[in-house]
Amino acid sequence: MRILLIGAPGAGKGTQAELIAARFGITHISSGDLLRKHVTEGTTIGRAAKEYLARGDLVPDSVVMDMLRKPTVAAVQAGGYVLDGFPRTVDQAKAAYETARGLGVAVEVAIFLEVPTAELTRRLLARGRGRDDTPEVIEHRLQVFEAKTRPMLDYYAEREELLTVNGARPVPEVAWSITVQLQQLRRRAQSAGA
Ligand code: AP5
Repeated sequence: MRILLIGAPGAGKGTQAELIAARFGITHISSGDLLRKHVTEGTTIGRAAKEYLARGDLVPDSVVMDMLRKPTVAAVQAGGYVLDGFPRTVDQAKAAYETARGLGVAVEVAIFLEVPTAELTRRLLARGRGRDDTPEVIEHRLQVFEAKTRPMLDYYAEREELLTVNGARPVPEVAWSITVQLQQLRRRAQSAGA
């Protein structure tokens, strides 16, 4: 399975991606986690990305695309992926599709986790992760989501299966809802291929 999770900061992408990966035996790839690891290790990618992360701005596409190419192909060879945080703009989605299509690794289903802004802010302030979970940076990250990432929903609605899930419920309920919908999709795909 090749799955993409879309959601605003704090929507629960990382939390649900872990559960999906374990449930379906696929690899969780988080662009944010990988970028933070590069920053901690002080690599070339980390040095290029550091200030973007601290401000809550998007890291340039070329940096993110280079970082993700190998892990994505490796994940497909190992059975599939759940992408969390990438693509994040229509341009990234188009570029990723062009690259992935040739390799046979394009996204099959996109899942949008819908959560009200007040709940997103509450979760992020409660978590307090490093420099990007301050009130000012959280507000900016939410604005970046609305301006750059939300338009991607139309892109995936037109070209892929787009599932919308109410992410404002307890973690196990959200996970259950995603699992049921993915299993239904899988069954439909199997009967279409039979
Ligand atoms: P990234 O790490 O992707 O951060 P984000 O999208 O802002 O999302 P978060 O990790 O904050 O939230 P999440 O939706 O994963 O929720 P989580 O499960 O953690 O990106 C960070 C930065 O990296 C970006 O700002 C950008 O600079 C850069 N970047 C990353 N990808 C990029 C790309 N493709 N292009 C360019 N730049 C890129 O949960 C959040 C909290 O809520 C946790 O405490 C959790 O326990 C809690 N929680 C989760 N679910 C629930 C629930 N159902 N009920 C109650 N609490 C919950």
